[in-house]
Amino acid sequence: MTNEPRPTPAFPAIRMRRNRKADWSRRLIAENSLSPNDLIWPLFLIEGKGKREAIPSMPGVERLSVDEAVRAAGEAVSLDIPVIALFPHTPMEKRDPLGSLATDPDNLVCQATRAIKKEFPGLGVLCDAALDPFTSHGHDGVMEGERILNDETVEILIRQSLLQVEAGCDIIAPSDMMDGRVGAIRAALEEAGHKDTQIMSYAAKYASAFYGPFRDAIGSSGALKGDKRTYQMDPANGDEALREVALDIAEGADMVMVKPGLPYLDVLYRVKQAFGLPTFAYQVSGEYAMLAGAIGNGWLDRDRVILESLLSFKRAGADGILTYFAPAAARLLKGL
Ligand code: PBG
Repeated sequence: MTNEPRPTPAFPAIRMRRNRKADWSRRLIAENSLSPNDLIWPLFLIEGKGKREAIPSMPGVERLSVDEAVRAAGEAVSLDIPVIALFPHTPMEKRDPLGSLATDPDNLVCQATRAIKKEFPGLGVLCDAALDPFTSHGHDGVMEGERILNDETVEILIRQSLLQVEAGCDIIAPSDMMDGRVGAIRAALEEAGHKDTQIMSYAAKYASAFYGPFRDAIGSSGALKGDKRTYQMDPANGDEALREVALDIAEGADMVMVKPGLPYLDVLYRVKQAFGLPTFAYQVSGEYAMLAGAIGNGWLDRDRVILESLLSFKRAGADGILTYFAPAAARLLKGL
């Protein structure tokens, strides 16, 4: 690209519609594309066998027992989806203020990881580091009075991460937004000899109302006291996201994530422009619920709106997208 002044294009020498005149031409000039390789499929886990349980606020998404999750993992493999993410539903009676189940090597996430990696070693498995699926108060960390304790929480996240990696997890995704957790987890992984474990940090994660259906899915909705604004980011801020990302990179993140997705495309764009490392967007549960709700009512064209929403992330700079539409999108992309 030179800096020489270019002649100002003008009509009718330029007719922008020429390149759009036919499908072959539109395909030829397309700047971005979507493929199953871009997708990460989040799954929700429940206890039991042969169980699938509907999640009312996420029409079409179900909680799966471990054996059903293994089946879903097989589906991911056959659809060329490279990674699945695992989230456990925990009933109130198994939660406590410290989120103790997070550090139980036989919890649902560890069980499912072992079962899936045994059956499908070539499929990537991503596990969150965060306590909210396990705490009785629904927060991502341990509490003292009204405060979420940072450093004490990080100590537990380290143990949770190591157990998940020992179960076979490939990517640890700290979603808790405690300060310093990426560095602490990275150091612990190195020390334990897990030198190839990737960290995808939820680096710019906002305190968002769009997580509502996810909290239904994991059983946190009734539990959560207050909000997460002392650790998740203020939706008013964009520059601050760049500081968060810079810190996580310095601490050892291999990939970063911006979350939620569509309402934060500006942040995604800036992060990719500024750092250029593998950058992911999470099309979160509330975004899924909005689209699935409108699709279910016949107000939006299902196939087109799924692919358009996902392609938007690619255009903004995402290398991949965590989305509950992953299997549907992969099927569409493969013409199935
Ligand atoms: C928990 C976590 C959340 C999501 C992923 N990991 C919710 C939260 O922070 O309250 C949200 C995902 C979604 O809404 O789809 N740390």
